[in-house]
Formats: sequence, structure tokens, C-alpha cells
Amino acid sequence: MPPRKIIIDTDPGQDDAVAILLALASPEDIEVLGITCVAGNVPLPLTTRNARIVCELAGRPDVPVFAGADRPLGRDLVTAEHVHGKTGLDGPTLPEPTMPMADGHAVDFIIEQLAEHAPGTVTLCPLGPLTNIAMALQKQPAIANRIAKIVLMGGGYFEGGNITPTAEFNIYVDPQAADIVFKCGAPIVVMPLDVTHKALVTRSRNDAFRALDTPVGVAVAEMTDFFERFDKEKYGSAGAPLHDPCVTAYMIQPHLFKGRHINVEIETTSELTMGMTVADWWGVTDRAPNATFMGDIDADGFFTLLTERLARL
Ligand code: RIB
Ligand code: CA
Repeated sequence: MPPRKIIIDTDPGQDDAVAILLALASPEDIEVLGITCVAGNVPLPLTTRNARIVCELAGRPDVPVFAGADRPLGRDLVTAEHVHGKTGLDGPTLPEPTMPMADGHAVDFIIEQLAEHAPGTVTLCPLGPLTNIAMALQKQPAIANRIAKIVLMGGGYFEGGNITPTAEFNIYVDPQAADIVFKCGAPIVVMPLDVTHKALVTRSRNDAFRALDTPVGVAVAEMTDFFERFDKEKYGSAGAPLHDPCVTAYMIQPHLFKGRHINVEIETTSELTMGMTVADWWGVTDRAPNATFMGDIDADGFFTLLTERLARL
């Protein structure tokens, strides 16, 4: 099978960085058409900086990086420096990027790529708030029928939320955008906290990154060493949850994940539950299924894949 063409929409973020590295380390499985940046973990000027730092760390300054939305559709931006640090990529000391930004807006790039490639051949991989994806759907609704799949990190059901009791960060930051995406009709695969909280960088897994003894291996070990603080403190986790790399791993080895095709709707009115992914896991409504919502992961298989592929860079 030829490599799957993807656009990574991202708000790096240490876990976004690892997801991008895994994609760039897997050319036989994934062709990264471009990286579109959105405000999320940190403001847009930092997410565009961090995306280019990661591309250069991977030796891929040729990957076009586009700037997208600098705020959600209808709410003030909420960021997560408390998790990712002031720069959004705290942990390793990495050189400032030298590669330029690509010309044009991220939303136009998404629309153009979907128009240029045959229907059903481009997959969108959002790793942050869904603002860019929603804006592309609003600007050119016909793209919904051309998207192969939207494989996104976001939401939670059994795990609840990580930014409020009921909402996961990516969905919470821009619930209106998430509502547009989940209603667009394109095939959707969701990597929620229910799965990503099982993909923990334990000490031995972190040691395996460091033992690669490469700039990438050491940087990933330092990123996840920094990034684990929040989850260890809040949940008593055994290590950093690699949220976003679950999206990339699904593109390479989907059998690592198990889930259900169910209805998922987004809370967009109540402030109490704003951004909640209302997942009908038990099929108690007659609402039509619109997403494959993942519930389990082969964590050992995931880390074996990730470590093997990072060793290539
Ligand atoms: O809730 C986790 C998600 O929010 C991840 O994508 C992380 O990078 C942040 O964007
Ligand atoms: Ca992210």
C-alpha cells in the first residue's frame, strides 16, 4: 500500500512534537503534505516556531509549515503553559528554527490540498483545537466529501476531562469548531483521553528513548521528562501521556487500537460542561454514529513502534 497522504494540524506541544517526529520517521507509511499550525497549547507565534524546530530536528526543513488560526472561532484563547512550559516545547534546549514559514494561510492550504488530490486520498490529522479544520469546512463545505478521514486527538468519556471535569483541552479550547467537525460527515477517528492516558512514558520507556543516544532520542526523553509533571501531579500517572502520537501510530498500525463506531456530540452551550464530548458509548440514544471513538490501546506495541521509528531519525 502506498504511503497515506496526511496534513498534520497542530499546536506543539511536546506530545505534538513526538507525533510529528513519528510521522516524519515513517515515509513508507505516511507522506506529510504539510503541517498547519493553530493556537492552543501556546499562542500561534510559538506553535509555528515549535513546528519548525521539530521539522529541523527531524532533518526535514522541506516540510511546508503554515500559520493558521490565532484564536478559537467564538471564544477567547485558553492556553496550557502550565503543562507544556512557557515556550510550549520546554525540556530540551533546541536551536531556534531557520526554515521559513510557508506562504499562505493554513486554511487555504488544507482546502487546496483536498482539491488537488483525488477524493479520499488525503487524511487530516488534527492534534490541537479544531479551529483550522472548521474554518476550512466553513469556507469550502465541499471538502467534507473529499477528506479520506479525520483522525484526531481530543475528547474523553470514561476519563472525563483534563482542563475541566468534563472537557479535554483540544475540544474545550474551541467547542464550536469541534461541533462543526463532528457534524461535517467525513469519517472521523477519535483518540480520546480514554486511550491516551494508557500511553504513558514510564521510566523504562523514557530510558529507551534516551538510550537511542541520538539528538532525537535525547530530545524526546527530555520533552517527556518535562511534560510528565502535570499528569503525575494531577493523576499520579506513571509518566507523560503521549496523547498526539496515538494519532500518528493509528495511521501506521491501526490494529494497536480498539474502539466503537458511535455517536459523539459536542457541548457548545452550557458553561458547566462546555467542550464535553458526549459519547454514546452504550448506544442509549437513536443519534446516528458519526465517529470511531477509541477505548483501548496496545501500549507496549505502541512504544515499540515509536522507539523503533524514532531510532531512524
Ligand atoms: O488534552 C491533550 C491535548 O491538548 C494534546 O493534543 C495536547 O498537545 C494539547 O493540545
Ligand atoms: Ca496537541
